[in-house]
Amino acid sequence: MLTGKHVVVGVSGGIAAYKTPLLIRLLRTAGAEVKVAATRNALEFVTELTLQTLSGNKVYSDVFAPTNDHSTEHVSLPDWADMMIIAPATANVLGKMANGIADDALTTTFLAMACPVLIAPAMNEKMYAHPALQRNLLTLNEMAHVTVLPCAEGFLACGATGTGRMLEPEEIFAAAEKQLTEQSLQGRRVLITAGPTQEKIDPVRFISNYSSGKMGIALAEEAALRGAEVTLVLGPTAMRPPHLPNLRVVDVVTAIDMHDAAMKTFPEADIIILCAAVADYRAARPAIEKIKRAGQDSMILELVENPDIAATLGARKRSNQKLIGFALETNDEEENALKKLSAKHLDMIVLNSLRQEGAAFGCDTNVVTLYDTDGRKTELPKMSKTDVAKRILDYI
Ligand code: PMT
Repeated sequence: MLTGKHVVVGVSGGIAAYKTPLLIRLLRTAGAEVKVAATRNALEFVTELTLQTLSGNKVYSDVFAPTNDHSTEHVSLPDWADMMIIAPATANVLGKMANGIADDALTTTFLAMACPVLIAPAMNEKMYAHPALQRNLLTLNEMAHVTVLPCAEGFLACGATGTGRMLEPEEIFAAAEKQLTEQSLQGRRVLITAGPTQEKIDPVRFISNYSSGKMGIALAEEAALRGAEVTLVLGPTAMRPPHLPNLRVVDVVTAIDMHDAAMKTFPEADIIILCAAVADYRAARPAIEKIKRAGQDSMILELVENPDIAATLGARKRSNQKLIGFALETNDEEENALKKLSAKHLDMIVLNSLRQEGAAFGCDTNVVTLYDTDGRKTELPKMSKTDVAKRILDYI
């Protein structure tokens, strides 16, 4: 399952390029989004139309394309990608990549890639055995983010039989799938609260806030993709996580509902992330009938305190449980976040501020700073909520 994963498929000019469309189809069938960066020579072996149709995206092949559409594609593709797969990688392209040469769409894209790169070489057996080629493969393999797949043995396009065949698309796909969904949280149980709560005033009104649930849903999805058994306690929102077998959603409305649902799952949870924007107060006596204007120009609504879920869980936390909270602030951000970190007995707090553009409520991005109990502070730049979720889980 590669839902939501972004894969750049690089194609260079070898006869094995005829198999690349099958790889693209496997990736897309598994739910990945695919963009293609191809050398000019690759397009002699497989047509641009085929690659475009199967990937569902324009093919990036000309760094000087007059359309201007792709003028910065070699930079934007690496920002977009979770993985790059170069299949086939010819001896020429391997030589360039090993030595930092970037003179076409594929090699410039590779040089800007920081995410994992899988390389599936393909060539004649004599070329494959050449010391220069083998040296280039070693150089590439030494790059922390690069994995060079082996070549297979068998019938080669030149008529010879030997080692140099590109692995089959299914084998390359399996290697990619394994890397993309590294099961680093396998066997872990993760409890996440997300979204707003609604506190009833009368049958037509409630107290709530602007939380969309996006940040918490991104955390739940990422934890599930990493193999955890996830319980997402979700306040009222139109947003839903994707259907994943190991992601269970518990819908709640009020802070008390959220508290009760969290308390139920808490004893079994290894990691608890409290991302919900919980109403601190609720109406003391919600009206049974709609409250009418009473002819006065003001009215007093009596509120009572809601349970503080984070503080309750913090007080009961076992030493083998990790409790992570969020702090949404509008002023004195660091001071307030650090107070919450210690008062609620959290192991880490994720600060986001409404003063920062592109952060916190509603939007698809966030700007956060992580503080932990060891005194570490990690400031992250503006990034998508999915990427923030990844960074938080990496940190944990
Ligand atoms: O949902 P989005 O639109 O994507 O927006 C994301 C977000 C802004 C809601 C999220 O990033 C965030 O900051 N969530 C916490 C919001 C909040 O209520 O912060 P707080 O500083 O008031 O609370 C501190 C911590 O205590 C939080 O972990 C909160 O979940 C928890 N809390 C607060 C009150 C309460 N009664 N019970 C709690 O558990």
